[in-house]
Amino acid sequence: MGLFGATNPAGPDWLREQIKIARDMSGDRPYGVGFISHLVPVFPELLDVALSEGVPIVAFSFSDPSPWVARVKEAGATAICQIQKVEDAKIAVEAGADILVVQGNEAGGHTGRANLMPLLARVVDEYPNVPVMAAGGIASGRSLAAVLAAGADGAWLGTRLLATHECDEVSSDYKQMLVSARSEDTVHTQVFDFLDEASFGIPPWPQGIAGRAVLNHFLRERHGREEDLRSKLGEIQPLYGQALTENDVSRTAIWAGESVDGIDSVRGVSDVIHEICNDAQQLLESLRG
Ligand SMILES: Cc1cc2nc3c(=O)[nH]c(=O)nc-3n(C[C@H](O)[C@H](O)[C@H](O)COP(=O)(O)O)c2cc1C
Repeated sequence: MGLFGATNPAGPDWLREQIKIARDMSGDRPYGVGFISHLVPVFPELLDVALSEGVPIVAFSFSDPSPWVARVKEAGATAICQIQKVEDAKIAVEAGADILVVQGNEAGGHTGRANLMPLLARVVDEYPNVPVMAAGGIASGRSLAAVLAAGADGAWLGTRLLATHECDEVSSDYKQMLVSARSEDTVHTQVFDFLDEASFGIPPWPQGIAGRAVLNHFLRERHGREEDLRSKLGEIQPLYGQALTENDVSRTAIWAGESVDGIDSVRGVSDVIHEICNDAQQLLESLRG
């Protein structure tokens, strides 16, 4: 199932257009849109658009989704909640989440501090009646087989799908960085969050949430020196703004997870998904023996 992030300053008309594309491409199969929970009130029309357009599946992540899950359920849609801590699973289930996505620190983009396997094992044990998907570090048949064997009902992938021909959200330079990077080249960092907060007035991310990105030139200089960054914001902000305008992959966020290890080339998305699923199936069959 395909799902895209709807929290985007491009606004309601952009979202309507994207929903139409997703609906047309999915035919009679399901598709969804995702929201960053603490930013729903910042762009309130976007959730209204998703619900009035009849999007069948709506996902939330990173903070208490209760008020938004209630609205999704009232609209008759399915609610997915991506969680980063075991306490958040309780909040999501009590709010009425139909599906949980357990996201580990291995994930690309924003994520929490807990690693996938211990968190997944606890959530699967504690909520045996809720479908659970695993996210973070999955880009191969081996990692898919591992989470299914651990009790997940499915997997949720981000990073691997960026390095596909169909993905037009990122540049070819970005895709090449995903091909050449290894898991140890990614870091969980607040550097870009500080800059985005200061530059665009974006509200701070919830406690414990930061973004995993490839350690490019900019991060090599700044990661781990956030206090220094705060004191030099006036100097660094204009350089960052220029890098964003120029789409410079050495000085902007190359969001990517440890799953870059499973990316050896830019390929068609259908090939990628089929290969991961077929490899996982073969591995699981061989384990049965
Ligand atoms: C470029 C990028 C953007 C992302 N944006 C969002 C987002 O807007 N909302 C969200 O809930 N998760 C977001 N994620 C995280 C994914 O939902 C997912 O947890 C993650 O990609 C899974 O790990 P993987 O990247 O190792 O496959 C993003 C991930 C990436 C790589």
